[in-house]
Amino acid sequence: MKGHEIVEKNIGLMTVFMVIAISFGGLVEIVPQFFLKQTTTPIEGLKPLTALQLEGRDVYIREGCHVCHTQMVRPLRAEVERYGHYSVAGESVYEHPFLWGSKRTGPDLARVGGRYSDDWHKVHLFNPRIVVPESIMPAYPWLYDNKLDGKHTADKMRALAKVGVPYTEEDMAGAERAVKGTTEMDALVAYLQNLGVLLKEKR
Ligand code: HEC
Repeated sequence: MKGHEIVEKNIGLMTVFMVIAISFGGLVEIVPQFFLKQTTTPIEGLKPLTALQLEGRDVYIREGCHVCHTQMVRPLRAEVERYGHYSVAGESVYEHPFLWGSKRTGPDLARVGGRYSDDWHKVHLFNPRIVVPESIMPAYPWLYDNKLDGKHTADKMRALAKVGVPYTEEDMAGAERAVKGTTEMDALVAYLQNLGVLLKEKR
């Protein structure tokens, strides 16, 4: 019997070889990503989210904003003309988890920071139909009423620091004070206003 025939007639052995082949393929594709400078180096000026913005990001995730909105401007002309500079990996190195998404019911939000005033966002989130009559976006009036106490903000920062986000002890010490007494609306708007601002002007 030739070597190939042995493998073909023995499913156990073939499974072992298949697992080796697929793992090797995976390793070759995935492992280099961890060492590529382009994907691991933050772009110039990138800072971790402030305490308030971090709480806002959690509200964004809790309310499922990412189900309708992507945060990923693709490098295509139509996208760049509508939203601004295409997204680059170095903008997302402090993001855990990523909120890039792929399905859009509403517009991409990767560069929405600074596009509207804080007041516009607050009215829009209270009821989108007030500023965009044809909007199908849900209203989030409770964000005005829900107060934040900031009790766990430092813990969240500590967890993120464990995976490489450069929060300092000072950031953590001031976190509760920065968040306490604000509303979820304040936090969410602070988060939105910071989205994508670093690469905006190079449009
Ligand atoms: C059911 C889908 C849906 C959900 C969920 C949703 N949106 Fe929207 N969003 C839309 C649509 C559609 C538009 C476009 C119409 C408009 O401006 O209201 C929009 C527009 C926006 C805009 C204006 C973007 C621009 O460039 O004009 C912002 C900001 C926004 N949404 C934020 C949010 C936030 C924050 C949440 C979560 C609290 C959220 N959206 C949840 C569908 C959604």
